[in-house]
Amino acid sequence: MSSQNIVTIDGPGGAGKSTLAKLLAGKLGWAFLDTGAIYRTVALVLIERGLTEASDEEAGRIADQLDLSFRLEGHEQRLYLAGRNLGVAIRTPEVTKLASRISSLPAVRTALLSAQRRLGERGQLVTEGRDMGTVVFPGAKLKFFLDADPEIRAKRRFDELKAKSAQVPFCEVLAELKARDQRDQNRTTAPLTRAPEAVVIDSSQLSQTEVFDLLYEKTKEVFNL
Ligand code: DC
Repeated sequence: MSSQNIVTIDGPGGAGKSTLAKLLAGKLGWAFLDTGAIYRTVALVLIERGLTEASDEEAGRIADQLDLSFRLEGHEQRLYLAGRNLGVAIRTPEVTKLASRISSLPAVRTALLSAQRRLGERGQLVTEGRDMGTVVFPGAKLKFFLDADPEIRAKRRFDELKAKSAQVPFCEVLAELKARDQRDQNRTTAPLTRAPEAVVIDSSQLSQTEVFDLLYEKTKEVFNL
């Protein structure tokens, strides 16, 4: 696996990984892969099939049989389910909640591991998730861990929701985010942890541009760009 040419960005939900990974990939001319979208797709399928209470074994079997494909559009690996681009359907609160639950199931994680690795085969990839640097691409040449205080991540999420005219109280957004953190950090299979060699960035007091500059400078240095 040519995982050398891979930049991984792990961290808790709401730390800005997706936006920054996409920006970095765009700047490098590399592909971008959002692995949370894969877990969200499994959750959507379970909802559509009325299987929200599926056991580990059942959910793992479904994850294994999914007709998932990726198409490189621009520099983005876009996810398709049986030829259908899922777009905002995987961003609903219901999907978010179920994705968090099923991502702790070992059979689901095993089923999705090879699909993710396949995408890294060609290298030149910026990918983000929870276990990219620790489990999926342990040989990646550069690993980041992007963090921020829970209150600040919740405030960013709250502002996004407000901009979309969604009426959710801040305390609810914060409670949901903390519950997701708990599940991500405490599951037995591939919990959210920092790889010892990861470059840790706490974005609590930094603007998006400042974080991007840190990511980009480090990437140029490590890959001699
Ligand atoms: O980053 P996100 O919110 O789109 O991720 C959706 C869910 O998937 C989230 O609850 C954590 C989980 N996830 C994971 O366990 N491992 C990954 N590599 C990516 C996401």
